[in-house]
Amino acid sequence: MTAQADDASLFVGLMSGTSLDGVDAVLADCSVCPPKTLAHRYQPFTPVLRTELAALCSSGADEIERAGAAARELAHVYAASVDALLGNAGVPRASVRAIGAHGQTVRHRPHLGYSTQLNAPAWLAELTGIDVVADFRSRDIAAGGHGAPLASLFHVAAFAGARARAVINLGGISNLTGVPGNGALESEVIGFDCGPANLLLDFWTQQHFGLPFDRDGAIAGSAEPDAQLLDVMLADPFFTAAPPKSTGRELFSPEWLSRALGQSKNPKRQAPAPEVVLATLTRLTCVVVASAIDRWFPQAADVILCGGGTRNHTLRRVLAEQCNPRPVMSSSALGVEPDHVEALAFAWLAHAHISRRSGNVPSVTGARGGRVLGALYPAA
Ligand SMILES: Nc1ncnc2c1ncn2[C@@H]1O[C@H](COP(=O)(O)OP(=O)(O)OP(=O)(O)O)[C@@H](O)[C@H]1O
Ligand SMILES: [Mg+2]
Repeated sequence: MTAQADDASLFVGLMSGTSLDGVDAVLADCSVCPPKTLAHRYQPFTPVLRTELAALCSSGADEIERAGAAARELAHVYAASVDALLGNAGVPRASVRAIGAHGQTVRHRPHLGYSTQLNAPAWLAELTGIDVVADFRSRDIAAGGHGAPLASLFHVAAFAGARARAVINLGGISNLTGVPGNGALESEVIGFDCGPANLLLDFWTQQHFGLPFDRDGAIAGSAEPDAQLLDVMLADPFFTAAPPKSTGRELFSPEWLSRALGQSKNPKRQAPAPEVVLATLTRLTCVVVASAIDRWFPQAADVILCGGGTRNHTLRRVLAEQCNPRPVMSSSALGVEPDHVEALAFAWLAHAHISRRSGNVPSVTGARGGRVLGALYPAA
């Protein structure tokens, strides 16, 4: 495919999120609003890199040394993704204005003033010969925000319509952007993290079934959820806390799940089977999202899904039940493939940085105002 857009408007977005599954790379034409995907490529992480990234999400021996090495390795994975993306699209590197590289979040602690992404943007600029914009979250946090979610501006641009829409990203964590219907103001946009999604589903599937994820939700769909376990998990105060709010692996960790399993133990019954736990986690994901819509964005007429969880049929089915009577549809129905959305958002945020436009939505992150996000690593 040959890119049609003006060279100054070609951006690459690289997203590797909390699922730790791999890198989504898009080539985006940012001369139009919303930006358009010209090419997409997905590169899964090797199991070794995934394991190391997961380990670096909590304190451990020699972690500063290991974080440096992992960041450098990520830069090589990102650079290979960019090479393959541009090679397949037939677009020379010199035509790309900049890469927006989110990096890999290993700590998200906005209340302490930081969110840390492993990334080596200088290496990426050196390896690709393309300007790199990175470190998108810090400035919003410095301005009093959560530094998350950051895809909301893109969700509004891509999915605004006559009807109010709840855009739900089903990544490692689920997040919601409430996109008002026609005529509404940007200051009325809301957005926040709802709770755990693929990160716990993947963890459990890897532990108990030896698979990277529950493909199409087949395992979860083979069992009924456990009501007691679900109630224990739903009691977490994060779910009822008022936005702005954001979360990550710090809260919704394997330890969180094992505590919930411990609390729901009952001598009168057997521990739930692994597929029952997976069905329960799948239901939890859906209940949390549906109640977030009901509570904070009840005007939503439609529910638009994006992110890898959109491919999970069981998640889709249960979400449709929970959101009834609101129709639930994939973002592809509105012209953007669900796997492209987050990477496109970071291509667009790189474009905003280069144009010195703010990229955050203060009503979402809680920042004192709009800010230009990210830092530039020029290629030359
Ligand atoms: N066919 C499928 N069936 C079920 N689940 C799938 C399928 N394909 C992908 N997934 C899930 O989607 C996850 C990846 O989703 P995605 O890349 O959107 O999350 P992420 O990297 O955490 O992104 P972000 O944090 O930006 O939202 C996988 O880890 C897996 O759990
Ligand atoms: Mg991913």
